[in-house]
Amino acid sequence: MLEIKNLHATIAGKEILKGINLTIRDGEVHAIMGPNGSGKSTLSAVLTGNPLYTVTEGSAYFNGKDLLTMKPEDRSHEGIFLSFQYPVEIPGVSMTNFMKAAINAKRAYEGLEPMKAAEFLKLMKEKRELVGIDKKLSHRSVNEGFSGGEKKRNEIFQMAMLEPKLSILDETDSGLDVDAMRIVADGVNKMHTPATSTIVITHYERLLDMIRPGTVHVLYNGRIVKTAGPELAKEIEQRGYDWIKQLSTDD
Ligand SMILES: Nc1ncnc2c1ncn2[C@@H]1O[C@H](COP(=O)(O)OP(=O)(O)OP(=O)(O)O)[C@@H](O)[C@H]1O
Ligand SMILES: [Mg+2]
Repeated sequence: MLEIKNLHATIAGKEILKGINLTIRDGEVHAIMGPNGSGKSTLSAVLTGNPLYTVTEGSAYFNGKDLLTMKPEDRSHEGIFLSFQYPVEIPGVSMTNFMKAAINAKRAYEGLEPMKAAEFLKLMKEKRELVGIDKKLSHRSVNEGFSGGEKKRNEIFQMAMLEPKLSILDETDSGLDVDAMRIVADGVNKMHTPATSTIVITHYERLLDMIRPGTVHVLYNGRIVKTAGPELAKEIEQRGYDWIKQLSTDD
C-alpha cells in the first residue's frame, strides 16, 4: 500500500522530517504517536502533497506509484484521504455540493460518468447513517459554524463518502466527547476492509482502544524511534515520552 524510505522534508528552510521509514500493507492499521512538534502532521501533509513542505530526500510509493511527483488532487483520486487536525471552513459551499464535486472529480479521474442524482442521494444517506451525522449538517456550508466535534465527524463522513484506500486520521480525537469518539471509531472500523489501510495519529490510548491498530510507531524529532504492537500505546499513556526520547540517537 505505502512504502516510505528515508523521507526528509523541510518547511521554511527548517528540516522537520529527518529520515522516515514506514511500510504499510493492505488491510493494516498503524498508529503514529509522538510529542507535540515531532512531525506527525508534517508527515501527513507531505504524503498528501501540501505545497508548503519541500521534500529534500527519500521516496514514498503508493501502490507502486511515485507519490511525491503526483499532484495533490491525484493523490486523493488514487485513494489517499487525510482527515485534518484542524478542518477548514468553506463558506458558501454546501456539504452536498462539496461532496458531489469531490465524488465526480474522482470518477472523472477514473474515466467514469458523473454519479446519477438518485444514486448520490442514496450514498449520502447510507454514509450519514454509518457515521451518525445529522442530515441538517449536509445542507449547511462545509464546516462553517460547526462545533469542533461536528467538524471531526464531518471529516469521517467525507472519508466514508470517498471510500479511500489509505485513510490518514490526524488527531481525529481531539475535541471529541467520548460518545462522538465512539461514533468516529465505529465509522472507521466499519469502513475498514482487507484492501484498505489506516494511519491514526493520536496522543490518546483511548482512541486506539477503539480503533485497535496492529502497529504503533513513535515519532520523535522527525524520526520513527520506536515501533511495536498496541501495548506501546499503553506504555506511553503510563510513562510519557521521556524514556523514548532517550532512544533517539542525536540532540
Ligand atoms: N511554517 C512553519 N515554519 C517553521 N516551522 C514550522 C512551520 N510549520 C510547522 N513547523 C514546525 O514543524 C514542527 C513539526 O510540526 P508538526 O505539526 O508536524 O508536529 P506534530 O507532531 O503534528 O505536533 P502536534 O502533536 O502538536 O500536532 C514543529 O516544530 C513546528 O513548529
Ligand atoms: Mg499535529
